Amino acid sequence: METYPKPLLAVENLEKRFISHVLGGKAIIGFRKISFTVPHGTALGLAGPSGYGKSSVLKCIYRTYGASSGQILYDSKAFGPVQLTDLPENQVLALRRDEIGYVTQFLSVLPRVSTRDVVAEPLVNAGMSKADARERSGALLQRLRIDQKLHDAYPATFSGGEKQRVNLARAIIHPPRLLLLDEPTASLDVEALSIVLQLLSELKNRGTTMIAIFHDKSIMDRLMDTTFTMPEKET
Ligand SMILES: Nc1ncnc2c1ncn2[C@@H]1O[C@H](COP(=O)(O)OP(=O)(O)OP(=O)(O)O)[C@@H](O)[C@H]1O
Ligand SMILES: [Mg+2]
Repeated sequence: METYPKPLLAVENLEKRFISHVLGGKAIIGFRKISFTVPHGTALGLAGPSGYGKSSVLKCIYRTYGASSGQILYDSKAFGPVQLTDLPENQVLALRRDEIGYVTQFLSVLPRVSTRDVVAEPLVNAGMSKADARERSGALLQRLRIDQKLHDAYPATFSGGEKQRVNLARAIIHPPRLLLLDEPTASLDVEALSIVLQLLSELKNRGTTMIAIFHDKSIMDRLMDTTFTMPEKET
């Protein structure tokens, strides 16, 4: 049945199993069949105990993981409605560049690229001049209370909370249509946390749709419109 309005993302009977070589080819359940929809412009929180597959769901959507079965329908700007689970790699890369952002708890960046350039890169990729992109990047880093002195340093040696803010800055500087957040505030102090939440809520007000995992239920309640609780992984 056709639903209206069309959601930005619809996960249908999605399931993830891992085949463990260490366990002699036995399957490890990432998560059992789940279904949820995310309307345009809304924020969905993924909840549930550790190990229930929350991160794996985001990775399936971002296509870091292939799904074992089920569908992920995404209403893309570039290609119209697509099925993310079997979308060709080049289109996945285009969506990652232009439409879908992903913030993990850990920053993995090329060594020897300055913080300012790491954050500016998505704008440069989107066609902005390097000088303008660097200026915008500096302003965002400043807003996130990253010390000016660190802007030209390499983020590889940053503290956990600093890395997390750089990671987030890079994901939001060119606002994505769909933003996937995996515990993006876990290592932040109260002040940094409140700045990040403010930034995320501005992003949402400007139309970015979000799927997020927050350890802290009060943050979840504050920022998310609805919550999907992961089902138990019965064996
Ligand atoms: N690459 C992988 N290979 C094998 N098993 C994996 C892999 N990734 C995840 N798993 C398993 O899938 C299950 C779900 O893991 P996942 O990281 O998605 O859980 P989570 O809900 O995000 O947990 P947490 O709240 O602790 O972050 C776990 O049992 C985990 O061991
Ligand atoms: Mg996780």
